[in-house]
Amino acid sequence: MSRMLQIVSLLALSLLIGCDGQQSAFAGAGPASSRIVFLTWLMFAGAAVITLFMAFLTWVAIWGPSSWRVKLSQEKGVIWGGIVFPVITLTVLLIYGFRLLDMDGALLKAENPVRFSVVGEQWWWRVFYLHEDGTHTESANELRFPVGRVIEIELTTADVIHSFWLPAYAGKVDMIPGRTNTLHFMADETGIVRGQCAEYCGGAHALMGFYAVAMTPEDYQDWLTRERGPALVNTEQPEGEQLFLANGCGGCHTVRGAGANGIIGPDLTHIGSRLSIGAGVLASKPENFARWIGEHQQLKPQNLMPPYDLLSEHERQALALYLSELE
Ligand code: CUA
Repeated sequence: MSRMLQIVSLLALSLLIGCDGQQSAFAGAGPASSRIVFLTWLMFAGAAVITLFMAFLTWVAIWGPSSWRVKLSQEKGVIWGGIVFPVITLTVLLIYGFRLLDMDGALLKAENPVRFSVVGEQWWWRVFYLHEDGTHTESANELRFPVGRVIEIELTTADVIHSFWLPAYAGKVDMIPGRTNTLHFMADETGIVRGQCAEYCGGAHALMGFYAVAMTPEDYQDWLTRERGPALVNTEQPEGEQLFLANGCGGCHTVRGAGANGIIGPDLTHIGSRLSIGAGVLASKPENFARWIGEHQQLKPQNLMPPYDLLSEHERQALALYLSELE
């Protein structure tokens, strides 16, 4: 293999590695995202063919036989290749692209979708599960839904422009002040994927992630029943909850069933059963709760939570245990 070829294959390989995993726009785990992936590859293939052809013409223009170069310099070539061909190709592609993406209309018209409302905040996601009886359950930084059902999410923002991006299932949709945008998608299979804010929204924008869990309808119903209920508190270890309330955590955070009703920060009622802490920053493990309480300003600079360095190591551990057990 020539050296050039080796370098090119290495580059291509390293690019492809970035396409794998939980936050990949190439996953196509539902009908909406699968169509986007198809259109992406179609356009990539078309552009690649045209680029190669243009490279060939450039070669002809510089080094090609003189008879070819004469043909290339004729006005006909400019009219057909420079005007007619691009107009026809781009028109066909535009119409085809619109038709392909318009197929999401079926998702849009679905009766009885699973409904959510998600509010973008600097730098986390306030999530509401909207129940059929008109009530809702608040959560944060995680979405769970059943496979095979149409998901409908109302997207708004509490402050600046954010962009809700769950690449495995759908394209980006902006969250714009004073506006409600709606996103529809469906998950084909169970699994865990990651989403990310896709519009620069200030300091910790890159740390505004979330997880989405597609579950079987039965698992989802069981989970939702638990999620709607209050936190199940470990009564044998009351110290954590006492610390939580005594240090004013409840002024900003809600823990349903524990007398904490703050609405400024994320709802923590079932934080222990979520996958991440701090909007996708740390995995939800007891030691990470302690780390977050002590170092959250280093882990996620400028976040609105005040530093809690007044807590002793023992208090920090007790608080972390309490939070990690809120399931
Ligand atoms: Cu929110 Cu970027």
